[in-house]
Amino acid sequence: MNLSDIHHLLAPRAQEFLRRDTHRMLIDGRWVAAAEGRTLDVLNPANEQCIAHVPLAGAADVDAAVQAARRAFDGGPWSRLRPADRQRLLLRLADLLQTHAQAVAQVESLDNGKSAAIAEAVDVAMSIDYIRFMAGQATAIAGITRDASIPFAPPSAQFVTFTRREAVGVVAAIVPWNFPLLMAVMKLAPALAAGCSVVLKPAEQTPLTALMLGELLMEAGFPDGAVNIVTGDGPGAGAPLTGHAGVDKISFTGSTETGKLIGRTAMDRLARVTLELGGKSPVIVLDDCDPAAAAAGAAQAIFFNHGQVCCAGSRLYVQRRMFDRVVADVAAIAKQMPLGHGLDPAAQMGPLVSQEQLDRVCGYIESGRREGAEVLSGGRRAGDKGYFVQPTVLTNVNHAHRVVQEEIFGPVLTAMPYDDLDEVARQANDTPYGLGASIWSNNLTRVHQLIPRLRAGTVWVNCHSMLDPGMPFGGYKQSGIGRDLGREAIDAYLETKSVFIAA
Ligand code: NAI
Ligand code: MG
Repeated sequence: MNLSDIHHLLAPRAQEFLRRDTHRMLIDGRWVAAAEGRTLDVLNPANEQCIAHVPLAGAADVDAAVQAARRAFDGGPWSRLRPADRQRLLLRLADLLQTHAQAVAQVESLDNGKSAAIAEAVDVAMSIDYIRFMAGQATAIAGITRDASIPFAPPSAQFVTFTRREAVGVVAAIVPWNFPLLMAVMKLAPALAAGCSVVLKPAEQTPLTALMLGELLMEAGFPDGAVNIVTGDGPGAGAPLTGHAGVDKISFTGSTETGKLIGRTAMDRLARVTLELGGKSPVIVLDDCDPAAAAAGAAQAIFFNHGQVCCAGSRLYVQRRMFDRVVADVAAIAKQMPLGHGLDPAAQMGPLVSQEQLDRVCGYIESGRREGAEVLSGGRRAGDKGYFVQPTVLTNVNHAHRVVQEEIFGPVLTAMPYDDLDEVARQANDTPYGLGASIWSNNLTRVHQLIPRLRAGTVWVNCHSMLDPGMPFGGYKQSGIGRDLGREAIDAYLETKSVFIAA
């Protein structure tokens, strides 16, 4: 299927959006080009063709966006809305996103390479539900009252004491390219529910659905400046944004390396910071389970979204007597997985997002080979157009190897046998990361023995990468600080003020 032949199959809103070719970004309720007039090419990773141009924002654009967010927060119309007004706006946004779900998913597919059907069923559906979940939280923000027992006040003195939860201020939201819309929504929804204003910077590889979301935000009726969207790269736009004195809180999802950089910048002025970073999540198969089901689960855990998932199950541990069987099954699944572009209904896996990621992932496979890994399936680039990599299974690896220790962020699985639970718990925890882990077993005793021993923000049992709007998600160790999703997420956009009134 030739990609240019399928444009007429796109939903009208997607066609109309892509016809524009040169896009603008959203600052203070207006759609603007970059101050310096520079633009960024947006590529379709399935065929390397340019599908759009977006503004390449610089420090002046970022400053204008932060000023607009500041005005909206410091006494502008956004700051005067009541919780129920914010709730209504968020619900309207969710409805609009639902109406245009197919168009948004199709643009996501062309921009990122992922399947349009999956983008609609997972990325967009989850975004809609999370906006609705957070709309509910907007009217559930509450402090506490306490009867005071101030030790050094005279017993006869009376105080009224209570706490207020107040929006933290202007939020800088910086998101990556693997789930472009969903990551943007995971920052925006709690920030807006809390009453913060936002400057969002999508990843330079995948800026398009953030701009579509900006249009829906304006259609929903969010006041000017409540959400500003600047498109640009890390050094040119991300760095001035995180370093801006007008930003009170930074919420970042991306690499551990960039996360640490941003964390240091935040500490310089004690800006609040939430970091959702990389992972190297273990999939632990116990020898009491059905090997075919475990293999199917393990394949899904690594190959979903082409392995470009922060909690991808990239290290497979199988109890020794089942190792050969499970690993052979995973390799067989990998070998028969059809690759193709995201609008091809027959494709089960699409391209990686960029040439940079293609080089990076192939570089890791080579490093595995050099360190003695055996390649059971895949092992190289697929085709010569588009950033496709064959789903790859590596065995004969050990724990010191780079392919076992470092985040590859592609469809590459390392598989290792183990003998007992003590050993696998130790190995599972033996990376700098701690984002997720899954256990495959029907033995409740062994499952419960393992759960508390895994140093990870989420543990799945007989499933992997499940997310729920109401369940907190985030990392232990170098996988990050703080939580997205769940009630915990809105807490990160709220300050607590204690009030004492002498009565
Ligand atoms: P990155 O972490 O550098 O980029 C993520 C976002 O941060 C983008 O919006 C980027 O423009 C921005 N950014 C980059 N440098 C910045 C800076 N100095 N200041 C402020 N913002 C900055 O990730 P990149 O380079 O795209 O991918 C490299 C590796 O990171 C991947 O191979 C993967 O291992 C990991 N990664 C992890 C993700 C996750 O969800 N945990 C998502 C994306 C990448
Ligand atoms: Mg980077």
